[in-house]
Amino acid sequence: MKHILVFASLVSVVYGAVYTVGVGKDETTGKKGKGFDPSSIHPAAGDTIVFEFRGGSHSAVQSSFANPCTSNGGFNSGVQTVDDNLEVDAPGLPTVSLLVNDTQPLWFFDEAGGLCSEGAVLSVNPSATETDAQFKANAAKAPAASPSSASADAAGTSTTASDSAGVSATSEGPTTPTGAALRLGVSGYAALAGLAVGLL
Ligand SMILES: *[C@@H]1O[C@H](CO)[C@@H](O)[C@H](O)[C@H]1NC(C)=O
Repeated sequence: MKHILVFASLVSVVYGAVYTVGVGKDETTGKKGKGFDPSSIHPAAGDTIVFEFRGGSHSAVQSSFANPCTSNGGFNSGVQTVDDNLEVDAPGLPTVSLLVNDTQPLWFFDEAGGLCSEGAVLSVNPSATETDAQFKANAAKAPAASPSSASADAAGTSTTASDSAGVSATSEGPTTPTGAALRLGVSGYAALAGLAVGLL
């Protein structure tokens, strides 16, 4: 039994799937541009993410769900620059690999590309509570990369009307249906419990 387990784990290390993610390739147009292609993946433990740099100057940097546009001190591909004359799918583009060790969510942004708040983010194994959509919404609310605007946002004095409208729209959207469903679930359960008590 022990030998079978060891063999199984060796096989998964050797034969783990490869998830190639284009960086600096727009997933909607398929051309060189903003972000990651694809921008959300679900690898298993033992799989490998291969960041393939498709154009311009980009980097894949690990961040967090709450702060999508700030390095968490984890993985950093370094800045990779590709000759402008190369096609988006040219052979031999620079790659940097990352081994996936478990199915915990991992979050990344393109630091060198500088368009994190416009959607240059990647979610790996997003969950039911930490979703890809909410991660992207968090990125859209992130302060701009320059230190001056970041401190202005932190002071809380520069929030615009459109910012706060956007924030309330995105934060209320997903929570209201969930809350309603939860309340229905609880009252339904209470009704069943009451029925059971009544029968007894
Ligand atoms: C998985 O483990 C390897 C080897 O320890 C490490 O280099 C890599 O950074 C880990 N992957 C993640 C996503 O932390």
